[in-house]
Amino acid sequence: MLIHERKDKTHMVTLVEGKDHHSHLGHFAFDDVIGQPDGTRIRTSKGSTYLVLRPRLMDHILRMPRGAQVIYPKDIGPILLLADIFPGARILESGVGSGALTTALLRAVGPEGNVVGYELREDFANRARKNIAAFAPLDNLEIKLRDVYEGIDETDLDRIVLDLPEPWRVLPHAEQALRPGGILLAYLPTIIQVDELRKALDASMFVQAETIEVFHRGWNVSGRSVRPDHRMVGHTGFLTTARLGATSGPITPDDLAANQLDNAADAGDPQGDHPHRSNMIDTDDAVDAVDTDSAPRPSTPDNRSVL
Ligand SMILES: C[S@@+](CC[C@H](N)C(=O)[O-])C[C@H]1O[C@@H](n2cnc3c(N)ncnc32)[C@H](O)[C@@H]1O
Repeated sequence: MLIHERKDKTHMVTLVEGKDHHSHLGHFAFDDVIGQPDGTRIRTSKGSTYLVLRPRLMDHILRMPRGAQVIYPKDIGPILLLADIFPGARILESGVGSGALTTALLRAVGPEGNVVGYELREDFANRARKNIAAFAPLDNLEIKLRDVYEGIDETDLDRIVLDLPEPWRVLPHAEQALRPGGILLAYLPTIIQVDELRKALDASMFVQAETIEVFHRGWNVSGRSVRPDHRMVGHTGFLTTARLGATSGPITPDDLAANQLDNAADAGDPQGDHPHRSNMIDTDDAVDAVDTDSAPRPSTPDNRSVL
């Protein structure tokens, strides 16, 4: 739980039956808090008052003990949307590291989905299990001690999420393991790695490759002092996504690449690098192709892999 002492002072503590919490503001029994509603106020032996809150997932991630460096909430939020993680999804994640991203993936896939994590180091896998268990059930998580560069056992995956140094070495395995239309996302700290990945994606069955970086700037809002915080995290990583094209059927990624060249020629743009034509599938064309009169279809975990 989180103990909120004052505006800028919050501690994370683990409730233990029969024990007390002590601080310079006095002590109180954990038993007086266990079972109380979220947001309860508790008075200490010295007459001070704490507000007691359940931690959010991001509180848990920012404070979790680390083996490997975690992905921060500012990137995890966008990852869940960019990779379109949905309830019921089947996901492969590698590496698992400290389990920060895994915890968020497990929560997003819900009880109907599952996450398989490939991790090289046993000590990291054990640390991750402990970190995750402190926030989410482990029922739909399997961590395998193995090298994802050597292959992926699973097939028909909805998503593959990578946070390791050379994700381009995973692409040949991902082409076999993901279902068509499935999404691969890679988190990479340097643009040199991104460049290598994007080149490998261009030469693969993946389409719609995109890379973004997310900035998060907090604000100080206090009386008349309303301004950006003096400090912000300058850089964490780049997020690259791509979707797997069908390996068989009437249209292949090569056909789409040829379409792109045709479009560039039509537009009198011999470089083919107009910003609106940077993806292999032109988003405007895709929107034109949608029958806007038809009623939207409900999206359930069961129909996410069909059109
Ligand atoms: C930066 S950490 C991942 C952190 C994790 N995303 C989190 O939020 O806690 C990278 C992890 O990838 C693992 N790793 C590196 N190469 C790997 C490979 N080829 N196969 C499986 N795991 C790998 C490392 O052991 C390390 O635990």
